[in-house]
Amino acid sequence: MAEKRGEAAVENKKVVLKHYITGFPKESDMELVTTGAVRLKVPEGTTAVLVKNLYLSCDPYMRSRMTKHDEPSYVPDFIPGEAITGYGVAKVLDSNHPNFNEGDYVWGITGWEEYSLISSTEGLIKIKYTDVPLSYYTGLLGMPGFTAYIGFFEICKPKKGEYVFISAASGAVGQLVGQFAKLMGCYVVGSAGSDEKVNLLKDKFGFDDAFNYKQESDLNAALKRRFPQGIDIYFENVGGATLDAVLPNMRIHGRISACGMISQYNLEKPEGVRNLIFIITKRIRFEGFLLFDHIDRYPEFLEFTVAHVKDGTITYVEDVVEGLENAPSALIGLFFGRNVGKQLVVVAKE
Ligand SMILES: NC(=O)c1ccc[n+]([C@@H]2O[C@H](COP(=O)([O-])OP(=O)(O)OC[C@H]3O[C@@H](n4cnc5c(N)ncnc54)[C@H](OP(=O)(O)O)[C@@H]3O)[C@@H](O)[C@H]2O)c1
Repeated sequence: MAEKRGEAAVENKKVVLKHYITGFPKESDMELVTTGAVRLKVPEGTTAVLVKNLYLSCDPYMRSRMTKHDEPSYVPDFIPGEAITGYGVAKVLDSNHPNFNEGDYVWGITGWEEYSLISSTEGLIKIKYTDVPLSYYTGLLGMPGFTAYIGFFEICKPKKGEYVFISAASGAVGQLVGQFAKLMGCYVVGSAGSDEKVNLLKDKFGFDDAFNYKQESDLNAALKRRFPQGIDIYFENVGGATLDAVLPNMRIHGRISACGMISQYNLEKPEGVRNLIFIITKRIRFEGFLLFDHIDRYPEFLEFTVAHVKDGTITYVEDVVEGLENAPSALIGLFFGRNVGKQLVVVAKE
């Protein structure tokens, strides 16, 4: 497709949500449509930015946006028939905004489509380091990486030598939490849903130990074996049965960073948690957080993490799918554990 500025309208492929859903999402809940009439030029009199999308991020929170909420949720519901929106990496083709110029690379909220006209630019960040893979700004250097940084350093306040447990440990957030914890001199154990992921945790990310939770009939016993002295820090990504098994295994004055509870996202009736009493008896600090509240600390996170990426002390695994048409199945795969590492979709490489 030609993409000269100001040229006549071009076609734009996009992924739309067909209808609101309950339960587990299916590929058929979304579809790829082609629309015409996108001019590769920002309309006069606006401060919008027109971008070509390169990499799109598949994130668990997007499931919530596929359901119609009666009360406003912490993120807006998707609008059926319109392009799904989410985090991505893009190249600026045209801009009327003083902070963005043609040719800049940006990451932030964009559309699941080839070209997006972005009017709300407050969710857009100009990419400072382009000498690392640009796809990293969907994961390692983008929203999930920043989540790992805030959720671990700010919420958990780790100390050298502490015992750390991470669930969904090989995912976009978890793999980085584990590496941050190792940098801090902690003892780190992760759980994941396949032997391939368990091997990654131990062999690639340097976890001290890891286990496949799907092969453990008694999660409480599995944790006791790995943490005979107890857990100081639990980085919570899954909720449900894992959380219930962690609580009795926490140490006195332990901290739980409630980042996500993916095991509950598709359930129409959430599971109960029976062991909450241990929050009192073990004097646990159990704190939820959302990365939006900490966005002013993104530059600090970026400098810290880029330095470790460049000196090789932090590594990152991505699960890369090619083509917008494959984005729906990639997104759904998160809820079945199909992704190995950060799930992203390549729309275009340049
Ligand atoms: N608080 C915030 O601001 C914030 C920001 C970003 C992300 N989050 C949360 O952080 C968590 C991790 O996100 P991510 O982007 O790193 O995702 P991810 O781990 O890359 O992908 C999701 C993984 O969750 C696991 N999973 C899926 N269903 C599960 C179930 N029923 N029980 C247990 N595990 C299940 C699967 O791994 P296995 O094969 O290991 O089961 C799957 O690969 C999510 O809960 C997400 O909502 C929170």
